[in-house]
Amino acid sequence: MNTPVTGPGAPPGEEALALGTGPIPAGPYYRPEYFELEREAIFRRTWLNIGHVCELPEAGSFIVRQLDFASASILITRGKDGVVRAFHNVCTHRGTQLVAEQDGLKSTFTCPYHAWTFSNDGQLRAAPDFERFYVDKAQCSLPAVAVDVCAGLIFVNLDPSPKQGLREFLGPFVEQWETLPVGDATTFSEYIYEIDANWKLTYDNFQENYHLRFIHPRSGGGGAVGPDNPFGYPMDYKFYGEHRTQTIWTNPAPKLSPAQMVAFGKLVPALMQRGLMNHPYGRAYWAVFPNLFMIGTPTQPFVHYVMPISATRSRGVIRIYWVGDDMNASERYGREFSMAMARDVHSEDRVVIEAGQRGLNSGALQHIHLQQQEVLLRHLMYHVDAKIQAYKAEQAGGAA
Ligand code: FES
Ligand SMILES: [Fe+2]
Repeated sequence: MNTPVTGPGAPPGEEALALGTGPIPAGPYYRPEYFELEREAIFRRTWLNIGHVCELPEAGSFIVRQLDFASASILITRGKDGVVRAFHNVCTHRGTQLVAEQDGLKSTFTCPYHAWTFSNDGQLRAAPDFERFYVDKAQCSLPAVAVDVCAGLIFVNLDPSPKQGLREFLGPFVEQWETLPVGDATTFSEYIYEIDANWKLTYDNFQENYHLRFIHPRSGGGGAVGPDNPFGYPMDYKFYGEHRTQTIWTNPAPKLSPAQMVAFGKLVPALMQRGLMNHPYGRAYWAVFPNLFMIGTPTQPFVHYVMPISATRSRGVIRIYWVGDDMNASERYGREFSMAMARDVHSEDRVVIEAGQRGLNSGALQHIHLQQQEVLLRHLMYHVDAKIQAYKAEQAGGAA
């Protein structure tokens, strides 16, 4: 049962209070041994967004994504049957990485070592002097990775047999996302960054508005703070198992710079033409466990995920998805400006996130403290630890 907090700044509901109010251990934000557990208990067995179907526009399209936490390279293809498939990018002869390109158009992939050739549905098609091997071609297909798509977003799961499908995992978000233009996106603006910070510490920065007025005074916190709500309290929080949402408060009179007004003005005609103004999820924020969030901005959905590299280094991917090509120079300007602003705001965040990591790395703090508005951070940490405890119990049971 969800207990929404009604109105900005209202006290947390029962479900939020059930997460407790005490301090949070600091160790999980920097200790390598905790990160090792997160890799096994969470990242190797959950659905992770790593792309969008607009990157696979036709039969033969492929993309390659690196998942550093698993030392894995994932090849995602669209077959001539239109089906999206994912594989480990590993030749089944002696393990050579098969595809060096990051994306492209190919119906077969030939290993650079001894020229085994695989079709884009993963099957071994040809291999020189194969009669002298002691195995059938049918047993040499590329190792498959679970993959599924929701609202155009491609998710993979490194668990060889995932405990739940993507739709079950996303629950009620599926229906909500399918009303968004992200599913129809044909292109996107992208910003990829690496940061010297734990993935949770990085992600948490984007789960709270407490910092907006201090770190982003120029950008005005995206219209989420104002004289009536100086700390940017959201309208509500809701919890869905390990996922969570908030509805971002809207400043009725946001202070926009002249450049912002021009840029957003340029996007409005296209939004109206595409029926995207006043979208019911225009101020929705969805946080999908463990590392993805999406904002249903009136422009286009804003998607950001944070992939761990080590306990104290992460790679973030920020995308704003667009439907159709720019219709004119004005729209192009509006899109470019939106992404430039996102980068600008992010550069302000990055400084404090990395400073936070340096402080935590010292081990000086046993605990950190979270206030009411930081309940989404508490909820993430609660579920991260719950997964780790369950994994430890499973390992102990398996060993008995
Ligand atoms: S390792 Fe790929 S063909 Fe030999
Ligand atoms: Fe920020």
